[in-house]
Amino acid sequence: MTLPLASSFVRDQDFINALYIVAFGLFIFGLMGLTGPRTAVRGNRIAAVGMLLAIVATFLLPGMGHNWALIAAGLVVGTVVGVPAARQVKMTAMPQMVALFNGVGGGAIALIAWAEFIESSGYDGDPLTFVIPSLFGAIVGSISFWGSLIAFGKLQEVLPGRPIGLKGVGQQLLNLALLLVTIGCAAAIAAGGTAGWLMVALLVAAAALGLFVVLPIGGADMPVVISLLNAFTGLSAAATGLALNNTALIVAGMIVGASGTILTRLMASAMNRSIPSIIAGGFGGGGAVAGASGAGEHAGSVRATSAADAAIQMAYARLVVIVPGYGMAVAQAQHAVREMATELEKRGVEVKYAIHPVAGRMPGHMNVLLAEADVPYEQLKEMDEINPEFTRTDVAVVIGANDVTNPAAKTNPQSPIYGMPILNVNHAKSVIVLKRSMNPGFAGIENELYYEPMTSMLFGDAKASVGQITQELAAL
Ligand code: TAP
Repeated sequence: MTLPLASSFVRDQDFINALYIVAFGLFIFGLMGLTGPRTAVRGNRIAAVGMLLAIVATFLLPGMGHNWALIAAGLVVGTVVGVPAARQVKMTAMPQMVALFNGVGGGAIALIAWAEFIESSGYDGDPLTFVIPSLFGAIVGSISFWGSLIAFGKLQEVLPGRPIGLKGVGQQLLNLALLLVTIGCAAAIAAGGTAGWLMVALLVAAAALGLFVVLPIGGADMPVVISLLNAFTGLSAAATGLALNNTALIVAGMIVGASGTILTRLMASAMNRSIPSIIAGGFGGGGAVAGASGAGEHAGSVRATSAADAAIQMAYARLVVIVPGYGMAVAQAQHAVREMATELEKRGVEVKYAIHPVAGRMPGHMNVLLAEADVPYEQLKEMDEINPEFTRTDVAVVIGANDVTNPAAKTNPQSPIYGMPILNVNHAKSVIVLKRSMNPGFAGIENELYYEPMTSMLFGDAKASVGQITQELAAL
């Protein structure tokens, strides 16, 4: 039995708009939750409920009726592919997962713009609210899709992480030529061009631009690039929302665009790099870095230690500061670290964790891992808070962190990380570094800290080394 009154009520535009407004409120509320580890999971769920509401509201839009089956099929395919992928992904592989999801969003925007072009045989509409936003969506969506695929390939090591491409001016000229072709096609379409090849040429030139802009960027800079592409995808979604007169797309796209832009700026400034210098490429990814001594070139010698000696030093300390980095994530040592800290606390040692804003490979990487291991949130100290405390720290235990502790950032103007704020680990009375070898970190440069007299190295996988220290502590 049908209920005409109820059915016409839920299809009422005001009701649909009200649903959208509630959804936007939930997006923003959810985002606020993501500002702290304690509220992050709840924030994520709130935003997901918002998205569900937005989807329901979109289903109710007039004219959607005959597309329900297609949309439902799309939802099923997306769920079947997306849910297991998101559940199984390792925390260290999260940046490439985000790249892939973001790229798919950009690709969808470009396809929508293409479909609109085919359906109405060109872009015939108001230039400000239809033609320009549609062309913007097509160009930026295509750049984002292909650029994100390259970012994924580099981080997943399907492609080499080192910068790939023509050298210097050659690359810039090629990119300029592609940009001109893209803009030329867009101008021809805006002037009333209806030929299908114009749109195809625009999408292909933008795709090549996406490939050639991201290929020369080192794999290690990819998290920043992904965040930038994410911001672009958001803006292209907002533009498409304008063209389709869909408020949900406009608001959601602007939220993604704004938050992606803020995140990109925060990451770049925490690494003391400018966004143009990141886009110019050539940094990290295992390549040699000009002006910096590479691994193994240092004249000094390092002091190796054992788990037993490390345990004795820590057991008799008053304050131990744990400095986690990318290696802790690779080794998945966070639970072992928590157990070691508990063992120290049993002996009356005060334990704190020093969190650098770009330790690891994504924003909040260390916070997420340590929260997963139930490390009390109060013990996690941001860089500005912990740095003054290193002078009274008896033992700083550096677990798979490298660049974020490198004093060259302060002392060597030739160093590529010069100017990057670092954790003042070298102010501690004693430093124990847990890593597998003398290999450099992300920036590909030697770390002076390892050659300092107060530093000793405990070589090995971080999880195994921390486990051995805990055993030694328990046996003391
Ligand atoms: P890195 O400087 O990359 O150093 C990580 C260290 O972990 C390496 O020296 C490596 O040495 C060690 N390691 C790897 N696997 C290990 C394992 N299983 N057990 C023990 N050690 C292991 O890391 P970091 O100090 O966290 O600095 C992060 C870097 O990434 C910064 O340069 C930052 O600018 C950059 N970055 C960060 C972000 C964000 S948002 N977090 C974004 C882009 C770039 P061995 O190979 O010798 O073990």
